[in-house]
Amino acid sequence: MNVSRGFLSIAPIYLIIGMLIGGYMGASQDHSLAPAHAHINLLGFTLMMIFGLYYAVFPAAAQTALAKAHFWLFQIGAAILAVMLVLLFSGRLLEEQMFPVAPLAELAVLLGVLAFTINVWRHTR
Ligand code: HEM
Ligand code: HEM
Repeated sequence: MNVSRGFLSIAPIYLIIGMLIGGYMGASQDHSLAPAHAHINLLGFTLMMIFGLYYAVFPAAAQTALAKAHFWLFQIGAAILAVMLVLLFSGRLLEEQMFPVAPLAELAVLLGVLAFTINVWRHTR
């Protein structure tokens, strides 16, 4: 699997979902999904595009186990967070029901970014 292509292929899916939620908020005049919308766009689309472009510019970094760890930790964490934030801010899930899955998903995202950071330090010239 090519990590750059993986990130770049999945990012626009988050943009489409984020924009659909944005459009829904505008049309319904109900902005309660704003934090879910913001993170689907920023964590999902913006960050994944940046990661994908980074690995395209530094292809050696994409060949490492760290890159694969980064990719899968980030994908799993971001997908779980996106779903849970929509459920939370649409009132289908209570704040206390976020535990322990949401903190674990945040940890996955954080560990993914840690793997990315080490990879960047090792491979960026
Ligand atoms: C079709 C496109 C989009 C529509 C219709 C849309 C609509 C909205 C609406 C209605 C809000 C709530 C505003 C409020 O209650 O203050 C919002 C918030 C937000 N949007 Fe979008 N949006 C779109 C695309 C994007 C994109 C592409 C991004 C980022 C890459 C983005 C980032 C944000 C952020 C960060 C907030 C939260 C702002 C805050 O809470 O202060 N949006 N958007
Ligand atoms: C796992 C990672 C992250 C966690 C746990 C997190 C958590 C949060 C929380 C709890 C808030 C306050 C929400 C509220 O009550 O309004 C927030 C707001 C915000 N975050 Fe994040 N965040 C994360 C990643 C990011 C990233 C990567 C970006 C940008 C690239 C970002 C951009 C924002 C923005 C713009 C707001 C204000 C918009 C709003 O509240 O609607 N966040 N974040």
